[in-house]
Amino acid sequence: MDEETSPTVSMADAHSPSLQPAVLVFDSGLGGLTVLDELARARPDLHLFYAADDAAFPYGRLDDQALVARVVAVMERLIERIRPSLVVIACNTASTLALPVLRARFAIPFVGTVPAIKPACAQSKTKRISVLATPGTVRRDYTKELIRDFAGDCRVTLVGAERLASLAEVALRGEKVADEAIKAEIAPCFVDDAGRTDTIVLACTHYPLILDRMKKLAPWPVTWIDPAAAIARRASSLLGPAGVPAGTAARAYFTSGSKPSPALARTLERFGVAAAEEEPLKLPV
Ligand code: DGL
Repeated sequence: MDEETSPTVSMADAHSPSLQPAVLVFDSGLGGLTVLDELARARPDLHLFYAADDAAFPYGRLDDQALVARVVAVMERLIERIRPSLVVIACNTASTLALPVLRARFAIPFVGTVPAIKPACAQSKTKRISVLATPGTVRRDYTKELIRDFAGDCRVTLVGAERLASLAEVALRGEKVADEAIKAEIAPCFVDDAGRTDTIVLACTHYPLILDRMKKLAPWPVTWIDPAAAIARRASSLLGPAGVPAGTAARAYFTSGSKPSPALARTLERFGVAAAEEEPLKLPV
């Protein structure tokens, strides 16, 4: 989890219980729902908004410059529309690159999602962990710095999964995903080299969505590290004490403007997102 926040921020609004702060949870697709879910449980007083930049999904394939430009452009529109007290970038691929730019550009706090390498290494017994992420996150200097600073004596295998985020989206939209496809994506995480990998960092917010399937398909049991609850705690501590429950469902925005299928609407409902309230946010990709 990212620990820094913008130095320029005023938290006055977020601290007022009567104002019920608006919080925006953002991802390229549906992965950020895993973070939204934790935040909704931790803080029922918040007005939660979810935004998926599905028109540009997957972020893992974008080059660095295109990704930063895209995230800033989408955020400009969303912040103008929602006026959140805080934004959670529930996407490792965007956080490991765009957080400094977002914090310099907007005067509200941003909580990011970055690979949980430190807790994974701390709890690994075999001192062999794998980081399962998008190819973008695996490439980042930020990720390499986390390994240098926090891996200690742990051997870290970086696995850039080309298709896993897309497979999670397909599964969440109610379509069939073959076991073999998931197996092939996670296989490089399992290293048996005088000691087996015993811990895998879920360094893309999409992956916890199909964790049950990954567990079943794993060649041996490992501990899977999902930072969603820690991210929710970090956001909550920045917002200050909780107020009275808002009693409203989260509202979702999709940059594609396309209407969710019935299967997707059911998934959103499961995450406490009101399916009837999507609003298109049309932007050029
Ligand atoms: N959910 C995003 C992440 O945490 C990435 C998915 C994508 O490639 O867009 O990295």
